[in-house]
Amino acid sequence: MATSSPRSMPRFSQFVALFLLFGFAITSRAGDPPLTLDYYKSSCPSVLEIVRKEMECAVLSNPRNAALIIRLHFHDCFVQGCDGSVLLDDTITLQGEKKAPTNINSLGGFRIIDRIKTMLESECPGVVSCADILTVAARDATLLVGGPYWDVPLGRKDSRTASYELAAANLPTADESLPSIISKFLYQGLSVTDTVALAGAHTVGMARCANFRARIYGDFEATSGKSPASEANLGHLRSICPSIGGGDNNIAPMDRVTPDLFDNSVYQLLQQGEGLLSSDQEMYSSILALQTRGIVKKYAADQIAFFEQFSESMVRMGNITNPESSVNGEVRKNCRFINTWAPEI
Ligand code: HEM
Ligand SMILES: *[C@@H]1O[C@H](CO)[C@@H](O)[C@H](O)[C@H]1NC(C)=O
Repeated sequence: MATSSPRSMPRFSQFVALFLLFGFAITSRAGDPPLTLDYYKSSCPSVLEIVRKEMECAVLSNPRNAALIIRLHFHDCFVQGCDGSVLLDDTITLQGEKKAPTNINSLGGFRIIDRIKTMLESECPGVVSCADILTVAARDATLLVGGPYWDVPLGRKDSRTASYELAAANLPTADESLPSIISKFLYQGLSVTDTVALAGAHTVGMARCANFRARIYGDFEATSGKSPASEANLGHLRSICPSIGGGDNNIAPMDRVTPDLFDNSVYQLLQQGEGLLSSDQEMYSSILALQTRGIVKKYAADQIAFFEQFSESMVRMGNITNPESSVNGEVRKNCRFINTWAPEI
Protein backbone atom coordinates (compact mmCIF):
# COMPACT_ATOMS: atom_id res chain seq x y z
CA MET A 1 0.00 0.00 0.00
CA ALA A 2 2.58 2.50 1.13
CA THR A 3 4.94 1.87 -1.76
CA SER A 4 2.22 2.02 -4.39
CA SER A 5 0.69 5.31 -3.28
CA PRO A 6 1.23 8.13 -5.76
CA ARG A 7 4.19 10.35 -4.98
CA SER A 8 2.14 13.46 -5.22
CA MET A 9 -0.10 12.45 -2.30
CA PRO A 10 2.23 13.33 0.59
CA ARG A 11 2.94 16.68 -0.97
CA PHE A 12 -0.73 17.33 -1.44
CA SER A 13 -1.54 16.48 2.15
CA GLN A 14 1.34 18.65 3.34
CA PHE A 15 -0.14 21.47 1.35
CA VAL A 16 -3.54 20.83 2.91
CA ALA A 17 -1.99 20.73 6.37
CA LEU A 18 -0.18 24.00 5.74
CA PHE A 19 -3.33 25.57 4.45
CA LEU A 20 -5.30 24.40 7.49
CA LEU A 21 -2.62 25.65 9.84
CA PHE A 22 -2.46 28.98 8.11
CA GLY A 23 -6.22 29.24 7.95
CA PHE A 24 -6.47 28.39 11.62
CA ALA A 25 -3.83 30.92 12.52
CA ILE A 26 -5.63 33.81 10.92
CA THR A 27 -9.13 32.98 12.14
CA SER A 28 -8.40 32.05 15.75
CA ARG A 29 -6.12 33.76 18.18
CA ALA A 30 -3.48 31.44 19.61
CA GLY A 31 -4.48 30.03 22.98
CA ASP A 32 -8.03 31.18 22.49
CA PRO A 33 -9.88 28.08 21.32
CA PRO A 34 -13.38 28.77 20.06
CA LEU A 35 -16.38 27.68 22.04
CA THR A 36 -18.43 24.85 20.54
CA LEU A 37 -21.96 23.56 20.97
CA ASP A 38 -20.87 19.93 21.49
CA TYR A 39 -17.91 20.60 23.79
CA TYR A 40 -19.07 18.11 26.47
CA LYS A 41 -20.65 15.65 24.04
CA SER A 42 -18.37 12.77 25.02
CA SER A 43 -16.91 14.02 28.32
CA CYS A 44 -20.21 14.83 30.02
CA PRO A 45 -23.21 14.07 27.82
CA SER A 46 -25.75 14.76 30.58
CA VAL A 47 -24.50 18.26 31.40
CA LEU A 48 -27.43 20.13 29.85
CA GLU A 49 -29.98 17.82 31.46
CA ILE A 50 -28.44 18.22 34.90
CA VAL A 51 -28.28 21.99 34.72
CA ARG A 52 -31.83 22.12 33.42
CA LYS A 53 -33.20 19.94 36.22
CA GLU A 54 -31.56 21.99 38.94
CA MET A 55 -32.71 25.23 37.35
CA GLU A 56 -36.26 23.91 37.08
CA CYS A 57 -36.29 23.21 40.83
CA ALA A 58 -34.74 26.57 41.64
CA VAL A 59 -37.10 28.63 39.49
CA LEU A 60 -40.14 26.63 40.53
CA SER A 61 -39.33 27.28 44.19
CA ASN A 62 -38.84 30.99 43.48
CA PRO A 63 -38.95 32.73 40.07
CA ARG A 64 -36.59 35.41 41.44
CA ASN A 65 -33.87 32.78 41.18
CA ALA A 66 -34.06 33.09 37.39
CA ALA A 67 -33.28 36.80 37.65
CA LEU A 68 -30.42 36.21 40.08
CA ILE A 69 -28.72 33.73 37.74
CA ILE A 70 -29.16 35.87 34.62
CA ARG A 71 -27.58 38.83 36.39
CA LEU A 72 -24.79 36.71 37.84
CA HIS A 73 -23.78 35.64 34.34
CA PHE A 74 -23.73 39.27 33.18
CA HIS A 75 -21.57 40.31 36.14
CA ASP A 76 -19.24 37.40 35.41
CA CYS A 77 -18.77 38.22 31.73
CA PHE A 78 -18.08 41.96 32.20
CA VAL A 79 -15.15 41.27 34.52
CA GLN A 80 -12.20 39.41 32.89
CA GLY A 81 -14.63 37.72 30.50
CA CYS A 82 -16.98 34.82 31.29
CA ASP A 83 -14.57 32.90 33.50
CA GLY A 84 -16.49 32.27 36.72
CA SER A 85 -14.49 35.00 38.48
CA VAL A 86 -17.65 36.40 40.10
CA LEU A 87 -18.21 33.07 41.86
CA LEU A 88 -14.95 33.17 43.83
CA ASP A 89 -15.18 33.83 47.56
CA ASP A 90 -12.81 36.19 49.31
CA THR A 91 -9.89 34.34 50.90
CA ILE A 92 -6.67 35.43 52.59
CA THR A 93 -4.86 35.31 49.27
CA LEU A 94 -7.62 36.31 46.89
CA GLN A 95 -9.85 39.37 46.83
CA GLY A 96 -13.04 38.38 45.10
CA GLU A 97 -15.65 40.45 43.28
CA LYS A 98 -18.56 39.78 45.60
CA LYS A 99 -17.95 42.89 47.69
CA ALA A 100 -17.56 45.25 44.72
CA PRO A 101 -20.03 48.17 44.85
CA THR A 102 -22.50 46.79 42.28
CA ASN A 103 -22.37 43.30 43.79
CA ILE A 104 -22.43 43.63 47.57
CA ASN A 105 -25.84 43.01 49.17
CA SER A 106 -27.11 42.53 45.66
CA LEU A 107 -25.92 39.41 43.84
CA GLY A 108 -27.44 36.03 44.58
CA GLY A 109 -27.83 32.57 43.16
CA PHE A 110 -24.42 31.27 44.29
CA ARG A 111 -25.92 28.33 46.12
CA ILE A 112 -27.82 27.28 43.01
CA ILE A 113 -24.53 27.17 41.10
CA ASP A 114 -22.98 25.22 43.99
CA ARG A 115 -25.76 22.65 43.79
CA ILE A 116 -25.36 22.22 40.05
CA LYS A 117 -21.59 21.91 40.46
CA THR A 118 -21.98 19.21 43.11
CA MET A 119 -24.28 17.22 40.82
CA LEU A 120 -21.87 17.56 37.92
CA GLU A 121 -18.82 16.63 40.00
CA SER A 122 -20.46 13.34 40.89
CA GLU A 123 -21.55 12.72 37.30
CA CYS A 124 -18.40 13.82 35.44
CA PRO A 125 -15.72 14.94 37.90
CA GLY A 126 -13.40 17.76 36.90
CA VAL A 127 -14.97 18.27 33.50
CA VAL A 128 -17.51 21.10 33.40
CA SER A 129 -16.27 24.61 34.21
CA CYS A 130 -18.20 26.87 36.56
CA ALA A 131 -18.21 29.54 33.85
CA ASP A 132 -20.00 27.15 31.49
CA ILE A 133 -22.43 26.09 34.21
CA LEU A 134 -23.37 29.72 34.79
CA THR A 135 -23.80 30.36 31.06
CA VAL A 136 -26.11 27.39 30.55
CA ALA A 137 -27.97 28.17 33.78
CA ALA A 138 -28.65 31.73 32.56
CA ARG A 139 -30.10 30.39 29.32
CA ASP A 140 -32.30 27.93 31.23
CA ALA A 141 -33.34 30.64 33.68
CA THR A 142 -34.49 32.80 30.79
CA LEU A 143 -36.43 29.97 29.19
CA LEU A 144 -38.04 28.88 32.46
CA VAL A 145 -39.62 32.29 33.06
CA GLY A 146 -41.03 32.48 29.56
CA GLY A 147 -38.12 33.89 27.58
CA PRO A 148 -36.42 32.62 24.42
CA TYR A 149 -34.22 29.55 23.95
CA TRP A 150 -30.81 29.65 22.33
CA ASP A 151 -27.97 27.17 21.89
CA VAL A 152 -25.07 27.85 24.23
CA PRO A 153 -21.49 27.61 22.94
CA LEU A 154 -19.34 25.89 25.57
CA GLY A 155 -15.70 25.32 26.49
CA ARG A 156 -14.89 28.19 28.88
CA LYS A 157 -12.26 27.72 31.53
CA ASP A 158 -12.46 29.03 35.08
CA SER A 159 -10.14 31.80 36.11
CA ARG A 160 -7.58 31.46 38.86
CA THR A 161 -8.04 35.15 39.62
CA ALA A 162 -10.79 37.67 40.24
CA SER A 163 -10.75 41.44 40.03
CA TYR A 164 -12.46 43.71 42.51
CA GLU A 165 -11.06 46.69 40.58
CA LEU A 166 -12.45 45.59 37.22
CA ALA A 167 -15.80 44.77 38.83
CA ALA A 168 -15.91 48.30 40.21
CA ALA A 169 -14.82 49.81 36.89
CA ASN A 170 -16.65 47.73 34.24
CA LEU A 171 -20.11 47.16 35.64
CA PRO A 172 -22.70 49.85 34.92
CA THR A 173 -24.77 51.46 37.67
CA ALA A 174 -28.34 52.72 37.85
CA ASP A 175 -27.33 56.36 38.16
CA GLU A 176 -24.85 56.29 35.31
CA SER A 177 -25.41 58.34 32.15
CA LEU A 178 -26.46 56.64 28.92
CA PRO A 179 -23.23 57.44 27.01
CA SER A 180 -21.17 56.10 29.88
CA ILE A 181 -23.19 52.87 30.04
CA ILE A 182 -23.00 52.41 26.28
CA SER A 183 -19.24 52.92 26.37
CA LYS A 184 -18.94 50.09 28.91
CA PHE A 185 -20.77 47.76 26.53
CA LEU A 186 -18.73 48.92 23.52
CA TYR A 187 -15.59 48.26 25.56
CA GLN A 188 -16.73 44.63 25.87
CA GLY A 189 -17.27 44.39 22.13
CA LEU A 190 -21.03 44.75 22.40
CA SER A 191 -23.13 47.19 20.38
CA VAL A 192 -25.76 49.78 21.24
CA THR A 193 -28.39 47.27 20.11
CA ASP A 194 -26.86 44.64 22.41
CA THR A 195 -27.00 47.15 25.27
CA VAL A 196 -30.71 47.88 24.85
CA ALA A 197 -31.63 44.24 24.25
CA LEU A 198 -29.62 42.91 27.21
CA ALA A 199 -31.06 45.55 29.54
CA GLY A 200 -34.38 43.92 28.67
CA ALA A 201 -33.36 41.28 31.24
CA HIS A 202 -34.85 43.78 33.69
CA THR A 203 -38.19 42.31 32.63
CA VAL A 204 -37.56 40.00 35.59
CA GLY A 205 -36.13 40.60 39.02
CA MET A 206 -35.98 43.26 41.67
CA ALA A 207 -34.03 46.39 42.42
CA ARG A 208 -33.16 47.80 45.81
CA CYS A 209 -34.33 51.20 46.97
CA ALA A 210 -30.73 52.47 47.03
CA ASN A 211 -30.71 51.98 43.26
CA PHE A 212 -33.98 53.77 42.46
CA ARG A 213 -34.32 56.39 45.20
CA ALA A 214 -32.77 59.18 43.14
CA ARG A 215 -35.09 58.26 40.29
CA ILE A 216 -38.40 58.26 42.20
CA TYR A 217 -37.58 61.51 44.01
CA GLY A 218 -36.02 62.91 40.85
CA ASP A 219 -37.29 62.87 37.29
CA PHE A 220 -39.88 60.08 37.60
CA GLU A 221 -42.81 62.47 37.45
CA ALA A 222 -41.25 64.37 34.58
CA THR A 223 -40.94 61.25 32.43
CA SER A 224 -44.16 59.49 33.48
CA GLY A 225 -46.63 62.35 33.49
CA LYS A 226 -49.38 62.58 36.06
CA SER A 227 -51.91 59.95 35.10
CA PRO A 228 -53.70 58.47 38.14
CA ALA A 229 -52.12 55.09 37.45
CA SER A 230 -48.56 56.37 37.31
CA GLU A 231 -49.14 58.60 40.35
CA ALA A 232 -50.38 55.56 42.25
CA ASN A 233 -47.33 53.60 41.15
CA LEU A 234 -45.03 56.40 42.23
CA GLY A 235 -46.76 56.70 45.61
CA HIS A 236 -46.33 52.98 46.13
CA LEU A 237 -42.64 53.11 45.20
CA ARG A 238 -42.07 56.00 47.60
CA SER A 239 -43.76 54.08 50.40
CA ILE A 240 -41.28 51.25 49.82
CA CYS A 241 -38.35 53.62 49.49
CA PRO A 242 -38.29 56.64 51.81
CA SER A 243 -36.40 59.72 50.61
CA ILE A 244 -34.24 59.78 53.71
CA GLY A 245 -33.57 57.42 56.55
CA GLY A 246 -32.97 53.88 55.48
CA GLY A 247 -34.87 51.29 53.55
CA ASP A 248 -31.89 50.94 51.21
CA ASN A 249 -32.44 47.22 50.82
CA ASN A 250 -36.20 47.35 50.31
CA ILE A 251 -37.02 45.96 46.89
CA ALA A 252 -39.42 46.60 44.03
CA PRO A 253 -39.82 44.78 40.69
CA MET A 254 -38.30 46.51 37.67
CA ASP A 255 -41.24 45.26 35.58
CA ARG A 256 -44.22 45.80 37.84
CA VAL A 257 -46.63 44.55 35.13
CA THR A 258 -45.27 40.99 34.91
CA PRO A 259 -42.41 40.77 37.44
CA ASP A 260 -41.90 37.01 37.09
CA LEU A 261 -42.39 36.73 33.35
CA PHE A 262 -39.74 37.24 30.72
CA ASP A 263 -41.55 39.39 28.16
CA ASN A 264 -41.25 42.82 26.56
CA SER A 265 -43.38 44.77 29.05
CA VAL A 266 -40.36 46.46 30.60
CA TYR A 267 -39.89 48.33 27.30
CA GLN A 268 -43.56 49.36 27.36
CA LEU A 269 -43.00 50.77 30.84
CA LEU A 270 -40.04 52.77 29.52
CA GLN A 271 -42.27 54.12 26.76
CA GLN A 272 -44.73 55.25 29.44
CA GLY A 273 -41.85 56.89 31.30
CA GLU A 274 -42.22 54.57 34.27
CA GLY A 275 -38.91 52.76 34.23
CA LEU A 276 -37.74 52.03 37.76
CA LEU A 277 -34.04 52.47 37.08
CA SER A 278 -32.78 55.77 35.77
CA SER A 279 -30.33 53.86 33.56
CA ASP A 280 -33.20 52.07 31.81
CA GLN A 281 -35.42 55.14 31.47
CA GLU A 282 -32.54 57.09 29.92
CA MET A 283 -32.54 54.68 27.00
CA TYR A 284 -35.91 56.11 26.06
CA SER A 285 -36.06 59.58 27.59
CA SER A 286 -32.56 61.01 27.51
CA ILE A 287 -31.87 63.74 24.98
CA LEU A 288 -28.95 61.53 24.03
CA ALA A 289 -31.25 58.56 23.36
CA LEU A 290 -31.41 59.22 19.60
CA GLN A 291 -30.41 55.67 18.73
CA THR A 292 -31.65 53.76 21.77
CA ARG A 293 -35.14 55.27 21.83
CA GLY A 294 -36.01 53.68 18.50
CA ILE A 295 -34.76 50.31 19.69
CA VAL A 296 -36.84 50.54 22.88
CA LYS A 297 -39.91 51.36 20.76
CA LYS A 298 -39.24 48.44 18.48
CA TYR A 299 -39.00 45.91 21.32
CA ALA A 300 -42.03 47.43 23.08
CA ALA A 301 -44.03 46.76 19.93
CA ASP A 302 -42.49 43.46 18.88
CA GLN A 303 -41.69 40.81 21.48
CA ILE A 304 -40.37 38.41 18.86
CA ALA A 305 -37.83 40.97 17.67
CA PHE A 306 -36.76 41.45 21.30
CA PHE A 307 -36.45 37.70 21.90
CA GLU A 308 -34.37 37.17 18.75
CA GLN A 309 -31.99 39.99 19.60
CA PHE A 310 -31.77 39.01 23.27
CA SER A 311 -30.75 35.46 22.30
CA GLU A 312 -28.10 36.69 19.92
CA SER A 313 -26.81 39.30 22.35
CA MET A 314 -26.63 36.75 25.19
CA VAL A 315 -24.48 34.50 22.99
CA ARG A 316 -22.27 37.47 22.13
CA MET A 317 -21.96 38.42 25.81
CA GLY A 318 -21.22 34.77 26.66
CA ASN A 319 -18.48 34.86 24.02
CA ILE A 320 -16.45 37.43 25.93
CA THR A 321 -13.46 35.33 26.82
CA ASN A 322 -10.63 35.68 29.24
CA PRO A 323 -7.55 34.92 27.08
CA GLU A 324 -5.58 34.37 30.27
CA SER A 325 -8.07 31.72 31.50
CA SER A 326 -8.19 30.02 28.10
CA VAL A 327 -4.51 29.21 28.59
CA ASN A 328 -3.97 29.09 32.35
CA GLY A 329 -7.52 28.48 33.45
CA GLU A 330 -8.88 25.36 35.06
CA VAL A 331 -12.08 23.49 35.80
CA ARG A 332 -12.75 24.30 39.44
CA LYS A 333 -13.91 21.52 41.72
CA ASN A 334 -15.71 24.05 43.90
CA CYS A 335 -16.92 27.19 42.13
CA ARG A 336 -16.04 29.34 45.16
CA PHE A 337 -12.33 28.46 45.26
CA ILE A 338 -9.50 27.91 42.83
CA ASN A 339 -8.21 24.34 42.82
CA THR A 340 -4.67 24.69 44.01
CA TRP A 341 -3.27 27.00 46.54
CA ALA A 342 0.31 28.03 45.95
CA PRO A 343 2.01 30.84 47.86
CA GLU A 344 3.33 33.73 45.78
CA ILE A 345 7.09 33.60 45.61
C1 HEM B 1 -27.49 48.37 30.91
C2 HEM B 1 -26.84 48.49 32.04
C3 HEM B 1 -27.35 47.88 33.32
C4 HEM B 1 -27.48 48.53 34.50
C5 HEM B 1 -27.14 49.97 34.79
C6 HEM B 1 -28.03 47.58 35.42
C7 HEM B 1 -28.29 47.86 36.75
C8 HEM B 1 -29.01 47.03 37.60
C9 HEM B 1 -29.39 47.37 38.92
C10 HEM B 1 -29.06 48.67 39.64
C11 HEM B 1 -30.12 46.33 39.42
C12 HEM B 1 -30.74 46.23 40.79
C13 HEM B 1 -29.73 45.61 41.75
C14 HEM B 1 -30.09 45.85 43.19
O1 HEM B 1 -30.76 46.84 43.46
O2 HEM B 1 -29.66 45.04 44.03
C15 HEM B 1 -30.17 45.33 38.40
C16 HEM B 1 -30.82 44.15 38.52
C17 HEM B 1 -30.85 43.17 37.53
N1 HEM B 1 -30.14 43.19 36.35
FE1 HEM B 1 -29.20 44.78 35.57
N2 HEM B 1 -28.22 46.39 34.80
C18 HEM B 1 -27.80 46.52 33.51
C19 HEM B 1 -27.76 45.53 32.56
C20 HEM B 1 -28.15 44.22 32.78
C21 HEM B 1 -27.89 43.13 31.90
C22 HEM B 1 -27.08 43.21 30.62
C23 HEM B 1 -28.45 42.03 32.45
C24 HEM B 1 -28.47 40.61 31.95
C25 HEM B 1 -28.46 40.27 30.69
C26 HEM B 1 -29.09 42.44 33.68
C27 HEM B 1 -29.84 41.65 34.49
C28 HEM B 1 -30.39 42.04 35.68
C29 HEM B 1 -31.35 41.25 36.43
C30 HEM B 1 -31.96 39.93 35.99
C31 HEM B 1 -31.62 41.95 37.60
C32 HEM B 1 -32.54 41.52 38.75
C33 HEM B 1 -31.73 40.78 39.79
C34 HEM B 1 -32.49 40.48 41.04
O3 HEM B 1 -33.68 40.18 40.99
O4 HEM B 1 -31.87 40.52 42.11
N3 HEM B 1 -28.85 43.77 33.86
N4 HEM B 1 -29.48 45.78 37.29
C1 LIG C 1 -19.85 33.08 19.57
O1 LIG C 1 -18.70 32.25 19.46
C2 LIG C 1 -18.87 31.10 18.64
C3 LIG C 1 -17.62 30.24 18.68
O2 LIG C 1 -16.63 30.68 19.53
C4 LIG C 1 -19.19 31.54 17.22
O3 LIG C 1 -19.40 30.41 16.43
C5 LIG C 1 -20.41 32.43 17.22
O4 LIG C 1 -20.64 32.94 15.92
C6 LIG C 1 -20.27 33.59 18.20
N1 LIG C 1 -21.56 34.25 18.26
C7 LIG C 1 -21.72 35.57 18.33
C8 LIG C 1 -23.11 36.08 18.31
O5 LIG C 1 -20.79 36.32 18.41
